[in-house]
Parts: sequence; C-alpha cells; structure tokens
Amino acid sequence: MTIDDDDQRVFHNEKSSTYWFPKDEDEQQRLTGNYMRDFKKGVSVLDVGCSSGIWIMDMITDYPNCTYHGCDIVDTTNKVLKLNQFTFSYANVITGLPYPENTFDFVNLRFFIFALREEEWPRVIKEIIRVTKPGGMLQLTESDITLEEGISSVYHSVKRAVFTACKSRGQNPQIARELEKLVLENNNNDRFEYKYIKKICVGLYRSIVTLV
Ligand SMILES: C[S@@+](CC[C@H](N)C(=O)[O-])C[C@H]1O[C@@H](n2cnc3c(N)ncnc32)[C@H](O)[C@@H]1O
Repeated sequence: MTIDDDDQRVFHNEKSSTYWFPKDEDEQQRLTGNYMRDFKKGVSVLDVGCSSGIWIMDMITDYPNCTYHGCDIVDTTNKVLKLNQFTFSYANVITGLPYPENTFDFVNLRFFIFALREEEWPRVIKEIIRVTKPGGMLQLTESDITLEEGISSVYHSVKRAVFTACKSRGQNPQIARELEKLVLENNNNDRFEYKYIKKICVGLYRSIVTLV
C-alpha cells in the first residue's frame, strides 16, 4: 500500500501497472456513486414488480437503514421472512402506482421485458419518474435477446422461440436497448433534467439515471 502524504490518498503499488488513480474508500465512492453513502444512512426505496421481494431482501442485507416499498400485480412475497422495513402494495404500474409524486429516493424496475407490451413502456417510465424525488435515482435492468443468423444449436432455437413469443404478445425482446431513449423521451415534460446514465452490457442492460 502506498499513501500520498499530501492528502492521505491510498494508491496501489503493483509495479507492472500504469494505473494511477487511488484505490481508497473515497475512490470507491466516486466509482460507485455518492448515493451509496446515502443508502448507508437510509433512504426510501421502491421496487416495482417486486415478485418474491428477492431484490429487496438483498438490499436489506446491505442497507438495513433504508425504508423499502415493493409493489406487484400479485402478492408472491416471501411470507416466512418478516421484514420490518418492508411494505408491500398491490399495484399495476401501467395504470398507475399508489404513491404520491416525489416519494422515493431510489426506484428499481427489473426484468419487465416479458411483462410489458412495447407501447406500454413510455407510460411506465413516466410513472416511475413521477414517484421519484428530484435528486433521486432510477435503476432499470433488462436482459437482451440477440438473434444470430445461421446457428442451429438448441440454445439458439430456444432464443428464437422466446423472441417469437415476445413478438406475438406485442413485446419488444430488445427493449433493453431502448432504455436510455425511453427515459429521455418520457421525463414528464422536463420536470426533471436527465443527468447521468450508465449502461452495462453483458446480455443485460442496466441504466442508472439521476434526476434533478
Ligand atoms: C420476471 S418478474 C421480476 C421480479 C423482480 N423484479 C426481480 O427482478 O427479481 C416480473 C414481475 O413483475 C410483475 N408484474 C408484471 N406486470 C406488472 C405490472 N403491470 N405492474 C406491476 N407488476 C407487474 C410480475 O407479477 C412479476 O412478479
């Protein structure tokens, strides 16, 4: 470990590497986003389409000081675990969420690719922006289905079948690629200014959007 005496920043000492940024806690905060600091203090979090509540359970393990709300069209939440900081509500995100405007610091929407018709996405994005506080964040995570031509494996046949099933339901199996555009086009008449978006693509697209 190497410490820069002037400002006490900590750097790696791997001689073969030219990497010159610090590796200390401040740097991890910078890379991860300052909101992690707020999560430790406690913020209000909504998981739309929470299903069993698995994402919330993971979050509670890491950030027990936050307040968690989850909603879904069915209640399949885990009834064995009693989580004090978690409240479930029935809700259909297409017709509207049962929360006032500007309620949550962080809103998570994950794996709706097989839940929404293509034309329903703009309404849903508007609705989750509505319930997010100014300065809050949205996290959108969707898988992506890419079709490679001319490959005849079972895996590719299954992908083609899923692609066709989505299309027959009016769903877009490649909606993940549209997330950034959807947020930009549906930000409630510029009530929020779009500030930052991050995309990670490993068969999965994730956008983290900060609203001001
Ligand atoms: C594939 S599961 C994903 C569950 C969870 N978000 C996760 O990432 O583990 C999709 C969930 O969305 C819910 N869902 C589908 N359509 C919905 C809607 N219009 N409004 C709210 N929830 C919905 C389903 O009931 C299901 O629990």
